[in-house]
Amino acid sequence: MTYAEILENARKYMNGNCKLCKVCNGEACRGTMPGPGGKATGDGFVRSYRKLQEIKVHMDTIYDESPIDTSCSLFGKTFKYPVFAAPIMGTYFQYGEQYNYHDYNRAVLNGCKDAGTLAFTFFDPNDEKALDEIVEIGGLGIPTVKPWPVDVMMKQFKEAEDKGIIAVATDVDGAGLALVQGGANPVGPKSAKQLEYLISNVKIPVLIKGVMTAAGAKKALDAGAYGIVVSTHGGRVQDQTPAPIEMLEEISNAVKGKIKIFIDGAVRTGNDVFKCLAMGADAVLIGRPYVLSVYGADKEGAAFYTNMIGSQLRETMMMTGAKNLSEINDKKLFIDKNF
Ligand SMILES: Cc1cc2nc3c(=O)[nH]c(=O)nc-3n(C[C@H](O)[C@H](O)[C@H](O)COP(=O)(O)O)c2cc1C
Repeated sequence: MTYAEILENARKYMNGNCKLCKVCNGEACRGTMPGPGGKATGDGFVRSYRKLQEIKVHMDTIYDESPIDTSCSLFGKTFKYPVFAAPIMGTYFQYGEQYNYHDYNRAVLNGCKDAGTLAFTFFDPNDEKALDEIVEIGGLGIPTVKPWPVDVMMKQFKEAEDKGIIAVATDVDGAGLALVQGGANPVGPKSAKQLEYLISNVKIPVLIKGVMTAAGAKKALDAGAYGIVVSTHGGRVQDQTPAPIEMLEEISNAVKGKIKIFIDGAVRTGNDVFKCLAMGADAVLIGRPYVLSVYGADKEGAAFYTNMIGSQLRETMMMTGAKNLSEINDKKLFIDKNF
């Protein structure tokens, strides 16, 4: 199996919104929502991709050879790579009917688990069986709660805790997601107090997804979050934002070591993972390519994709002289003055 074959197979099950481009960079799907595109002009998604590609890595292969360790420790567990699948809502109407909520979650969760990592999932508050697939694999997944009214969020946080799930996340930036606005449970901004209330009422780690400023990161830290995801939701909640990678260093300078830092937004190769870690992230999330991997080869596709990105990361570490993740730093990057 190759990734190109997986994409070719995925094409059969797609509804046309996703063009299955050779490089998933947000150009062909600008504004395609429902679908995989960035909001409005689609600039947010496109910029995330372009800015990551502007960063280059320095080679250095003059060192004593030793095994390379790509593993990371998070949530009290060790994962094979610092690479996790991002939550994706509504695959059946955004990409194609082949995968509904449960089938997609089962495939991505199991594929990531088999490859030694884990997947985040959208947590549907209207589905009593929403967490079944995570429970089936011993709680190894991170359900992600939209910023619904606080009582709805609290119920979901508690349910995740009661069901023995490793951690829970909330995508606070979902406040800007047109696809879920105006329903019975309206989404909207959440105050630091509300977040603190939610976090302090569960014992499992909580991640705040959609943080894009140092000030926002400090608020998440003060609210007691285990970690943040520096993210613009793939450019789907606000047009014309900076790329997550452009904000990473500033955010890392503000909270590194006090809170775990995840990032997503057009991370497409092991090289890209390396760049994110070098600029301060502890781990990355990848979204759209996991959808294509699942549509093309179910859970084996998700496992294949994870291992592919993981081996690319290992190769970059070998070529830059980083034996483990703690040896990845910004001295190994070439960043143009105009970045
Ligand atoms: C179709 C689609 C649905 C998404 N649904 C969710 C969601 O329910 N919750 C969430 O936190 N993020 C959601 N996201 C955002 C992703 O989790 C991720 O932040 C984003 O896609 C950036 O990563 P990528 O460029 O690797 O896709 C969605 C993205 C897409 C494309």
